[in-house]
Amino acid sequence: MRDLFDRIIENKGPLGKWASQAEGYFVFPKLEGQISNRMKFNGKEVITWSINDYLGLANHPEVIKADAEAAAEHGAAYPMGARMMSGHTDLHEQLQNELAAFVNKQAAYLLNFGYQGIMSAIDALVTKDDIIVYDVDSHACIIDGVRLHMGKRFTYQHNDMESLEKNLERATKMAEQTGGGILVISEGVFGMRGEQGRLKEIVALKEKFKFRLLVDDAHGFGTLGATGAGAGEEQGIQDGIDVYFATFAKSMASIGAFLAGDKEVIDYLKYNLRSQMFAKSLPMIFVKGALKRLDMLRTMPELKQKLWDNVNALQNGLKERGFDIGTTQSCVTPVYLNGSIPEAMALVKDLRENYGIFCSIVVYPVIPKGLILLRMIPTATHTMEDIQITLDAFSAIRTRLENGTYKRLSQAVAMAMGE
Ligand SMILES: Cc1ncc(COP(=O)(O)O)c(C=O)c1O
Repeated sequence: MRDLFDRIIENKGPLGKWASQAEGYFVFPKLEGQISNRMKFNGKEVITWSINDYLGLANHPEVIKADAEAAAEHGAAYPMGARMMSGHTDLHEQLQNELAAFVNKQAAYLLNFGYQGIMSAIDALVTKDDIIVYDVDSHACIIDGVRLHMGKRFTYQHNDMESLEKNLERATKMAEQTGGGILVISEGVFGMRGEQGRLKEIVALKEKFKFRLLVDDAHGFGTLGATGAGAGEEQGIQDGIDVYFATFAKSMASIGAFLAGDKEVIDYLKYNLRSQMFAKSLPMIFVKGALKRLDMLRTMPELKQKLWDNVNALQNGLKERGFDIGTTQSCVTPVYLNGSIPEAMALVKDLRENYGIFCSIVVYPVIPKGLILLRMIPTATHTMEDIQITLDAFSAIRTRLENGTYKRLSQAVAMAMGE
């Protein structure tokens, strides 16, 4: 027998193994200053393209004022305890009612964190006799929620309706034996590549199969649909979403999340979400802050308009310059380039140090070997000047990638490190 910690010291995990080369720069970078289009990295100003503050609310003066006033009145604690026990207030209820109305559902329930909240929702919605069918590219919180499930689960190929149908056929056969039901889970927007879940087609399958649909609309809420109610509104099928989930961590620039659906479903979830029944409720700073932000989403459509002006300028500019931005149908803007991981590291360093552009990189194993994904998140705070500078920088780094500059640089670094 060995000590439990022997393994974790030997094997730091798929990301942890890169810590010595990456930490502080590629992972756990420290961005400083007010959350905005320009922040400081390693003491230098950079244009930030990696923050999900879509509507630019994070440092909006009205938002900061509302948060500060709530903090001055309540501190960070109130209310203490879980919602069910001592952590409930009129304002939690008011926020739920306003969120439900905003996303066109009968009722909503607040979650202190989205990740745990959606895991618990999945856990509470199914028993061992039920079957889950979910998109293979789902966010980690969905995958972890499905891990709690004691019954059968099937993945379908990403956004592939033929594969979904095939798996619904299998699930239906199985459910007929167990006497259970079927839960289908998709995202409203897949946050890495930016495609919307094919919700309209999924909902249409309800004609043929009996299932309920849970949608994680973290990136769609506030950014998509005529009123900002998300991917369901954008695709005209909000009614077909049985349980709608969104987090405050993106458009709302805060912490917290919610589930919305028919009243009887939300009433059930309220009494059965383990991560909420046994954890502290959302503090008043976040409740009052969310009421303020939601009011701005409703009354300031110009924020979403500005966001989309920027998204369109950036995405069209990239396409005009021949960049591959994949199949995004949202604000998430991926740029695919060909290169190795060492080349990707040299390229990102060049972008940050010499062009003042800060964006996230995604490499193998998240995407296929040999591809580099620069993932960009435009926001309402970006300016046309930011976009122009970024487009020029991207053209320059592509030339350097193609002429082997980053290959040489990465080889030089490897030699200097004695590898
Ligand atoms: C698609 C998706 N679902 C859920 C979450 C988790 O939400 P939270 O940050 O509120 O825990 C995130 C990340 O914020 C996300 O991107």
